[in-house]
Amino acid sequence: MLTRRQAMLGSAGLIGALAGGALRATHAHTAAPNATSMLRPNRRVPYGACVNLDPLEKEPEYRVAVETYCQQVTPEYGLVWDYLRPARNQFNFDFPDKALAFAEANEMTMRGHTLAWYGAMPSWTKEISGTAEAERELANHIERVVSRYRGKIKTWHVVNEPIDDTRGVVGALRPSIWLQYLGPKYIDKAFRLAHQVDPSAELLINEYDIECVGEGFAVRRQALLTLVRDLLARGVPLHGVGLQGHIQGKYQIDDDGLYKFVSEIRSLGLSVHVTELDVIDKDFPGPTVVRDALVAARAYDFLNAVFAAVRPSVIATWGITDRYTWMPMWNKRADGLINRPLPLDEHYQPKPLWFVIDYFCQKTA
Ligand code: XIL
Repeated sequence: MLTRRQAMLGSAGLIGALAGGALRATHAHTAAPNATSMLRPNRRVPYGACVNLDPLEKEPEYRVAVETYCQQVTPEYGLVWDYLRPARNQFNFDFPDKALAFAEANEMTMRGHTLAWYGAMPSWTKEISGTAEAERELANHIERVVSRYRGKIKTWHVVNEPIDDTRGVVGALRPSIWLQYLGPKYIDKAFRLAHQVDPSAELLINEYDIECVGEGFAVRRQALLTLVRDLLARGVPLHGVGLQGHIQGKYQIDDDGLYKFVSEIRSLGLSVHVTELDVIDKDFPGPTVVRDALVAARAYDFLNAVFAAVRPSVIATWGITDRYTWMPMWNKRADGLINRPLPLDEHYQPKPLWFVIDYFCQKTA
């Protein structure tokens, strides 16, 4: 259960948090462009975002925003199979190499997303058939990719989105070529391989839709917890859980359900990371100030329940500016207005969501 104080602080406590944060961040945002770390000294939890290569290379404003706000970056699609493996015998490390150089030049860390996922698979992988071939391909991939960034990428989202919610099935393992050919143990294999290649890397399982009120969310929480316990019981080198946090704005956050889930993960000795936070604003009213407040309030409730259980290792959003977000891909608004799921608006101005994140990053207790 959340304590009375934590519950009272719910989204109502937002106002105070915003007022405090607003002053600090406005000051920092108007500082010199290379004022790296202006926003960082007081952070107990680092803030990160996924980055997109094109604007990172071509848009100075984008680059400055990432430098100003972030302590950590994740290449948005630069480490998925689809990008890295244009052909079976070809690796393309252009994006992750450039993102890493950017991160290192700015004293940021970079996280790796992701080694085994049902999604973003290049079409040539349809040719893979049989257990031996699948195992060989997975091992080869993990060996090549993890060894290239050994000691540099310190946290990997090893297995992404393992829990199914398609075809009316909730809670089973999600179909993928890995599940098809290697069975449920594909997860064990991916973790063991990654650990072998870089024993010092922190290895996570990363999952979405576990934070809201509703039967489906509760089932997913339970399924993930069961999976995590089983992996640990089998001695799999799993070190943490990533809560993606693509929050479905139309639902309330399940404060108690989320708090209990995160507490369980913590009691298993695992770290907790917020890895892909954004708020799906598809069903929110159009006016900007209303929408931004609702987005911020949902994120507040989410982070409040997480922080009540544990201080997460990072708060990372999936993008930094509304100018570049994957949201319209599945969640375009019916009124034609652009989505506003991220901490900075399309002109790089901080929104209420930013001040919520900044508040939690600096929170002392
Ligand atoms: C999305 C990217 O943002 C898009 O650019 C890409 O085309 C599709 O995938 N969960 C994940 C991310 O783990 O990899 C997804 O990213 C968003 C949902």
